[in-house]
Amino acid sequence: MLKVLTVIGARPQFIKACMLSNAFRSESNIKEIIVHTGQHYDENMSNIFFKQLKLPNPHYFLGTGSDTHGKQTAKMLLKLEDIIISEKPDIVLVYGDTNSTLAGSLAASKLHIPIAHVEAGLRSYNKKMPEEINRVLTDHLSTWLFCPSNTAVKNLENEGITQGVYQTGDIMYDAVLYYKNVALQKSNILSNLNIAPKTYYLATVHRAENTDNPQILTSLLEAFLQIRGTVLLPLHPRTKNKIKQWNLEKLILSSNIKLIDPLDYLDMLAVESQAKLILTDSGGVQKEAYMLKVPCITLRNETEWVETISEGWNQLSGTDTDRILKAIEEIKSPTNHLSIFGDGHTAEKICRLLNNIVR
Ligand code: UD1
Ligand code: UDP
Repeated sequence: MLKVLTVIGARPQFIKACMLSNAFRSESNIKEIIVHTGQHYDENMSNIFFKQLKLPNPHYFLGTGSDTHGKQTAKMLLKLEDIIISEKPDIVLVYGDTNSTLAGSLAASKLHIPIAHVEAGLRSYNKKMPEEINRVLTDHLSTWLFCPSNTAVKNLENEGITQGVYQTGDIMYDAVLYYKNVALQKSNILSNLNIAPKTYYLATVHRAENTDNPQILTSLLEAFLQIRGTVLLPLHPRTKNKIKQWNLEKLILSSNIKLIDPLDYLDMLAVESQAKLILTDSGGVQKEAYMLKVPCITLRNETEWVETISEGWNQLSGTDTDRILKAIEEIKSPTNHLSIFGDGHTAEKICRLLNNIVR
């Protein structure tokens, strides 16, 4: 029996974990203990995903909440250390690049518990991003590195990491394939909002580098304001707080901007797949745009998901208002669409690899 202790805590991690946790439950050889750090805690940033995606209730909820990077990570570490000592897992499993990921991998590595990192090998080569620090450190501490793309494998190779590296495809693609049609059948979000499919732009913004600087946030909101057409904006709580802090509310009062609370996963898939264009700084939303064949403009200067750019479905616009508006005018839907994120069986592959470890 392999005992896997999974550490999750932020919205995208609940979505990434749902397919693998379900796969674990059908494996008699694997027992999973789920720890929720509490990094995200609003109903629509956390609980809603456990309910909708049938994720088992966490065995441990750390209730960390929001804080500075150091304090938030330290609070998680304190509790994770005790839990790992008492649970004695064979593996600690972490996803992606959040502070919850780093806390999980730091706690495990000091206790000599091997780490499995799902979504390993991503790089922006921008060390000002907290995520870049979290993923570089986690990759260098991990024993098993499950990479979503060929680029991720190459990035690790460039840093001398070749042992325990597997190209498994992207776990988020499993979820998109599983839930896409359910979303289109069940979600009433567009009729509730009174918008027609393929007539609107979907925008999400939450990256620290885009929200913590009032000039950059103003420039992004100005672009949304000037877009000719409806912009649907499900607002991350970080961005909502920053708009208030920087007194930018007037920029989102325009009648073309439909401001809504963060959506559950099915509603999000429904609005993504029926958007005519997506504007985002989210990693997950960039990928889902590609998976759902919706053109995307990334409101950043670099991306970890370089294949979406080379395939022509994604374009980097930076954060300047005019550049964003120009990118919207110029972007086209390409006809080619390679399977850059695998075949949608990533959870099965990871299970098989972990089962081999037991043997
Ligand atoms: C975190 C991750 C980021 C990921 C994102 C997914 C880090 C360093 N960043 O960023 O990589 O892309 O999650 O969404 O781990 N807040 C609430 N309610 C909540 C959660 C957050 O109000 O349930 C507000 C708080 O004001 C908090 C702010 O959002 O200070 C930022 O939250 P935090 O978890 O620190 O970072 P995110 O920006 O969410
Ligand atoms: N998402 C969601 N509701 C929203 C916004 C995003 O369910 O209102 C989902 C989205 O479909 C994707 C994931 O959250 O699966 C992306 O998370 P986020 O943008 O918060 O973080 P990132 O991927 O940038 O780390």
